[in-house]
Amino acid sequence: MKPSAIYPGTFDPMTLGHLDIVRRASEVFDRLVVAVAETPRKQPWFSLEERMAMVAEATRDLPGVEITSFHGLLVDFARAQGIRALVRGLRAFSDFEYEFQMALSNRKLAPDIETIFLMTSDTFSYISSSVVKEITSLGGNTVDLVPPCVQVMLSEKHKGQNRGAVSS
Ligand code: COA
Repeated sequence: MKPSAIYPGTFDPMTLGHLDIVRRASEVFDRLVVAVAETPRKQPWFSLEERMAMVAEATRDLPGVEITSFHGLLVDFARAQGIRALVRGLRAFSDFEYEFQMALSNRKLAPDIETIFLMTSDTFSYISSSVVKEITSLGGNTVDLVPPCVQVMLSEKHKGQNRGAVSS
């Protein structure tokens, strides 16, 4: 029997890189819970509800994938779900330090929970949510960087930003 795992993140917004990790993790795990974190310290562009909606839409064809939100400690959420595996994507060396620190902190808090890293496909290794937001703010095209539903939401966000700039 294949086990369950949690793929946590802020997903502000979800990119094709995130989707690549969800797709590949869903082939390894029977049940994959994509856990959207509130992360108020990052001051997300998209509300928690918007981020959950975009992840749900982007992953709706993938069997065994569930979307939920969480706040508080990730390991507490994992225990409440009865899940012992956390999935994270690694894109480049630059991710390693941050991910290493997070994995070891989680292990200290909960030695029974393991973090499993999947390497992002090289096609997506340069994508980040911040880059997507910067390109959007400057009027660029992110069609090759995000799922189609996210592209629509980014266009709306950009229009809203422009309306705000004109009226202020
Ligand atoms: N493809 C593309 N981009 C990726 C990626 C991939 N495979 N993997 C990560 N990224 C990028 C994201 O685009 C994002 O870019 P940005 O920095 O430009 O915004 C960045 O890497 C990380 O975003 P994301 O993957 O959404 O995760 P996160 O780092 O925001 O999530 C939590 C962190 C929520 C998992 C973590 O803060 C957490 O567990 N919080 C709960 C509190 C807790 O338990 N703390 C103790 C543990 S340290």
